[in-house]
Amino acid sequence: MKVLVTGGAGFIGSHTVVDLQTSGYEVVVLDNFVNSNRQVLNNIEKITGKRVDFVEGDVRNKTDLDTVFKRYPGIEAVIHFAAYKAVGESVQSPLAYYENNIAGTVYLLQAMKAASLKKIVFSSSCTVYGEVDATLLPITENAPVVKANSPYGNTKKIGEELLLDASKAEGFNVVSLRYFNPIGAHDTALIGELPLGIPNNLVPFITQTAIGKRKELTVFGNDYPTRDGSCIRDYIHVMDLANAHVKAIDYLHTSNENFSVFNIGTGQGNTVLEVVTAFENVTGTILNYKIGPRRAGDVVQIYASCQKAEQELGWKAERTLENALETAWKWEQYLATSPFMD
Ligand code: NAD
Ligand code: UD1
Repeated sequence: MKVLVTGGAGFIGSHTVVDLQTSGYEVVVLDNFVNSNRQVLNNIEKITGKRVDFVEGDVRNKTDLDTVFKRYPGIEAVIHFAAYKAVGESVQSPLAYYENNIAGTVYLLQAMKAASLKKIVFSSSCTVYGEVDATLLPITENAPVVKANSPYGNTKKIGEELLLDASKAEGFNVVSLRYFNPIGAHDTALIGELPLGIPNNLVPFITQTAIGKRKELTVFGNDYPTRDGSCIRDYIHVMDLANAHVKAIDYLHTSNENFSVFNIGTGQGNTVLEVVTAFENVTGTILNYKIGPRRAGDVVQIYASCQKAEQELGWKAERTLENALETAWKWEQYLATSPFMD
């Protein structure tokens, strides 16, 4: 079976392409490299031994979409990763975010409709739950979706709404995966996360500090009502997350549901300080860090109930936090010694 992966050169997309190829799927990638590097496609081939069919193009460009569907007949499903993802940047440039993440999704659905293609997996986020009462944890998919606290978060909320409407009126079959906090890299360290500039996310900041690119990590707050005062998140290995997409594609071919959402996490919450300690333990390094003030917009704690994904997708996270941190560290070391970023 052939699957189109938009944003397939990106962090989660590249790991998903590897799992799809090793699971026997043919993969076509559409990416404009706005937040990735074309060398990623060569490294995917080094891992899987298979060349990725590829169109350099933009989901907002009708001609590019038509090229994909004409050049590669037989595509049966789409996994839609292509989007912008930086929360702070979305506050500064909301129109760019609504254009890429919302208009991009609309154009993609229109092109899919023209190609008589209805199955789509969408990248959503646990950010749709906002700040949740501790009694609701681990959070299930039945928890209310709340007003987003950034334009980026709003694009995920609106994305789910427009896909729900399209499933009702146009017969699309949709799986929306609400990712918790993806971290780590492929075991080979040939692909991983490529943050541009100063990373916003915790794990790239940790690995860049450990390798000496950053002076020190600031832990954003140790006065939260948690076991050690730092925030709690559900950190999921990117290869486990990738596999959820393969399961979602299988589900789209067997289920009668037109629109389904699934939490994709581990079910375990870890504090920032626990992640720092785990990193030091698995890598044998001492991390230079300090405690700083809280970061605006951070929720105190969130972690997933993944029972629905386990029961209906047959998917469950298998890897540990330690393994994710170890692979993230291997990837940072690989980046330091390879011409990957040229
Ligand atoms: P990423 O930036 O690494 O990957 C996105 C890819 O899409 C990049 O290769 C980029 O070049 C491409 N792209 C962006 N706009 C495009 C366009 N208009 N046309 C074609 N290609 C385009 O991001 P990621 O971390 O892999 O995230 C993938 C998806 O998952 C995004 O939709 C993101 O919002 C969502 N998500 C990510 C996280 C996370 O923590 N990484 C959490 C929740 C949801
Ligand atoms: C953030 C976004 C979320 C988005 C996700 C993926 C916010 C408020 N949330 O999630 O919408 O879907 O990224 O891109 O931006 N931390 C530090 N020091 C650092 C960096 C992070 O202490 O230098 C802490 C944070 O306070 C948080 C935890 O580490 O408690 C995880 O942070 P991060 O990796 O940025 O992810 P989220 O904030 O959960």
